[in-house]
Amino acid sequence: MTDFKNRDIISITDFTRDEILSLCQTASKMYDLEKSGRRYSLRDALKNRSLASMFYEPSTRTRTSFNTAIRELGGSHDGFAGTEGTSIMKKETIRDTIMMMESNHFDVGVMRNPLDGSVQWAADVAKIPLINGGDGKNEHPTQSLLDIFTIYMMNGKKLDNISIGFGGDLSHGRTIRSLSMALSHFDNITIRWAAEDFLGMPKDLEDLLKSKHVKVERSEKVRDVMKNVQFYYMTRPQTERMKGVSQKDIIKMMQNYRIDLAKVDGFDLRLMHPLPINSEIAEIDYRVYFRPCQAFFQQAENGIFLRKALLYEMLSHDDYVQSDGTLNPATEFGNNHLQRAIKSRLKEHMFIDNIKRGMVLDHLAYGSAQDIVQKLGLMDREYFFVPASIPQSKKSFIKTDLSELTERECKEIAIRSPDPTINIIDQGDVQSKFVYLLCKNDNCITRAINEDVPPSFYEDEGVIRCRYCRRPYASSNPKVSEAELKSFVQSLPKSVNPL
Ligand code: CP
Repeated sequence: MTDFKNRDIISITDFTRDEILSLCQTASKMYDLEKSGRRYSLRDALKNRSLASMFYEPSTRTRTSFNTAIRELGGSHDGFAGTEGTSIMKKETIRDTIMMMESNHFDVGVMRNPLDGSVQWAADVAKIPLINGGDGKNEHPTQSLLDIFTIYMMNGKKLDNISIGFGGDLSHGRTIRSLSMALSHFDNITIRWAAEDFLGMPKDLEDLLKSKHVKVERSEKVRDVMKNVQFYYMTRPQTERMKGVSQKDIIKMMQNYRIDLAKVDGFDLRLMHPLPINSEIAEIDYRVYFRPCQAFFQQAENGIFLRKALLYEMLSHDDYVQSDGTLNPATEFGNNHLQRAIKSRLKEHMFIDNIKRGMVLDHLAYGSAQDIVQKLGLMDREYFFVPASIPQSKKSFIKTDLSELTERECKEIAIRSPDPTINIIDQGDVQSKFVYLLCKNDNCITRAINEDVPPSFYEDEGVIRCRYCRRPYASSNPKVSEAELKSFVQSLPKSVNPL
């Protein structure tokens, strides 16, 4: 049972085996139409439907192939390629931009943005379905689907019993992680890889794949991988995501791993690459382009068939979403307060001195109190405050008669001191206390202060995960008891369902 009607496309992990196979079958029909000269035979399928393309970051393939896909199905597209010339330059948020696109009567949106989790947030705000065209270093699900579709087409329309080699940069990009997760749905998958240590397969990915019965083997030499695989998937070192590493360093690291004629000659395999190839690093030598193994330009064209299939499945029905200018109320607040118990009124009372109404920010990172006082502007706003540090317990705290914190203020505190305990004081007593949870991934959308995305979490097999970047979350507050944590986990949604 597969149903893509009005569905948001955020992560490849949201797809089942049957859904992947079903999309491959539809994309294969799109392929057949093209190759038999019937490109426009579905030109009425999405007549009067329109695609909003919102690319905050550069793209050649993803953006243009979505545009081609909607056009060949009879629809239209508009939007932006880069933020220059848009009101994003005037600090407009993602939420407001999405609301504008919706009120411009677009039926579907595709978005690329540098922040992890940004497209999940856009999908939470939007009523129209949204497609992730790449969110930071997180996900690019239609790339994984077109990669899978390429393997499907070049392997006799089957996805079991695949052996694939990975090379280039397995560590900083999103394609290898997503493609290997998609492959893990199928039987008898073997992944072999060869790369420099710094660019190698992350341990967490290797462990995850092994837990899904995927065989993972490392080789020292590219040719040792090539002689044992049907497909070799090369990737570009993602220098833009490596801090403090120069292009020169990368060229050196890639010396033994670039694909040239000496590497591929003599093997019967298909060489894939998500593209673009970096012309300075030249991770694939241009002369290899002329060898029969070269499959990456067909792979790029397959993006059109796959995206046509996806748009067709999502939009070829009579219902369409109408904008009414209102926001989904569920996007106003997150679920980021881990409630703590008040154990002893007497003890709490002694601790708050003479504050009648205000708060104590407790269990702050040692030495962070002064910075937090400044960021909250307590002095400028003429609030009473006492910042203090206790060397013995290596913690800091702030007592203040400021009695309410905005979400932005909570974030500013948690950025400087993860998992602060916030004690709310009224009538001279602690009335409630909670730990404020903010995702610890620096690149998560929830940490972009001006975007005003409330941190939200869900539970996935006992693990707390950020709703947006989906990274696991572990509280570092030493005072949170097992019972408090358990109660919080029980209150969380069990998956990233639509809000
Ligand atoms: N493969 C890919 O996403 O290419 P673009 O960055 O050109 O869209």
